[in-house]
Amino acid sequence: MSGGSLLIDNIGSLVTNDPALGRGMLGLVEDAALVVEDGVVIWAGPRQRIPEGAARERVDAEGRAVIPGFVDSHAHLVFAGDRTREFEARMSGRPYTAGGIRTTVAATRAATDDELRANLRRLVAEALRSGTTTVECKSGYGLTVEDEARSLRLAAEQADEVTYLGAHVVPPEYAGKPDTYVDLVCGEMLDACAPHARWIDVFCDRGAFDGDQTRAILAAGKERGLVPRVHAGQLGPGPGVAIAVELGAASADHVTHLSDADVEALAAGETVATLLPGAEFSTRSPYPDARRLIDAGATVALAADCNPGSSFTTNIPFCIALAVRDMNMTPAEAVWAATMGGARALRRTDVGRLAPGARADLVLLDAPSPIHLSYRPGVPLVAQVWKSGTPLL
Ligand code: NIG
Ligand code: FE
Repeated sequence: MSGGSLLIDNIGSLVTNDPALGRGMLGLVEDAALVVEDGVVIWAGPRQRIPEGAARERVDAEGRAVIPGFVDSHAHLVFAGDRTREFEARMSGRPYTAGGIRTTVAATRAATDDELRANLRRLVAEALRSGTTTVECKSGYGLTVEDEARSLRLAAEQADEVTYLGAHVVPPEYAGKPDTYVDLVCGEMLDACAPHARWIDVFCDRGAFDGDQTRAILAAGKERGLVPRVHAGQLGPGPGVAIAVELGAASADHVTHLSDADVEALAAGETVATLLPGAEFSTRSPYPDARRLIDAGATVALAADCNPGSSFTTNIPFCIALAVRDMNMTPAEAVWAATMGGARALRRTDVGRLAPGARADLVLLDAPSPIHLSYRPGVPLVAQVWKSGTPLL
């Protein structure tokens, strides 16, 4: 409870993500306990060493696992309508293209603020029920000065991190005039949006924006104090990763199509590779090989990419299972990528780990070990979620 003191005792397996506190990359402590005060973790370790302290509310974890809340660093949650028919057609063989985004743009422009708020609230609550306690949210379905600024204002009401994605696709009214639209994204739209966002993103891919446009938009955003992140190499190979690393982006996302030079650049630079297996699953595309990135030394994050087109899921445990089954990650690497990895991608040090000083965002699993997140695919294992020490389920 925020403002109070809480002891979570009898934890079968605790993921701290701090190798100084426990075993392996997850900093695993078995037979563990955790103490929270005023919404912050003040102690984590073996039960026999629980520090003496003030009267505490005690929760008995009954031998189950506790992990940091998931940090979902890539989501598109400000939108109206859905794309059921597009999904059905795709499952009958039609390929995914960036063009479907315009369907959601039309629905989003026509929606009221309250309709968009309600959809966002439903999705954030849905994410919470599967263990997500920090969520990033992009604009990108407004694509006018007013609708992008409105999307960001609404995102900021409910999401932890807000990203300006005016460069999602060229909207229909600028068909045939992409550079005029890029000028708007770098000019008046940026002026209206920069005060509401921390990040700027570009969809650098076939049917969206090319390398020169991406570089111009991210550079303009940087001048206004926004930090770049890039949708790169989702639909085909391209310059997105190289530009992301060159401009010091926090993250290059999707990275389904990667050259050897891209892998080397990610390994050598500070840019996190954020993998979004929900998109490959829902577009029937080949998965990226996480093993190749990890073995090269890149930092890998996992996120859900919730959006109505390519990945209509908020469920990080599902993404963890896909990453292990189809992207060659170990179960431990996938749990790390969805917690610490997401925090790295958002340059946050207060979330994604459960060491003293971290925000007490934690998930109690109905399972003895975090490995069950991939071992028991599709099973709702989240028993309780605390955000800043407050139980929310
Ligand atoms: O991350 N790739 C670009 N944006 C989204 C898809 C958006 C949509 O199809 O509506 C993504 O996959
Ligand atoms: Fe995306």
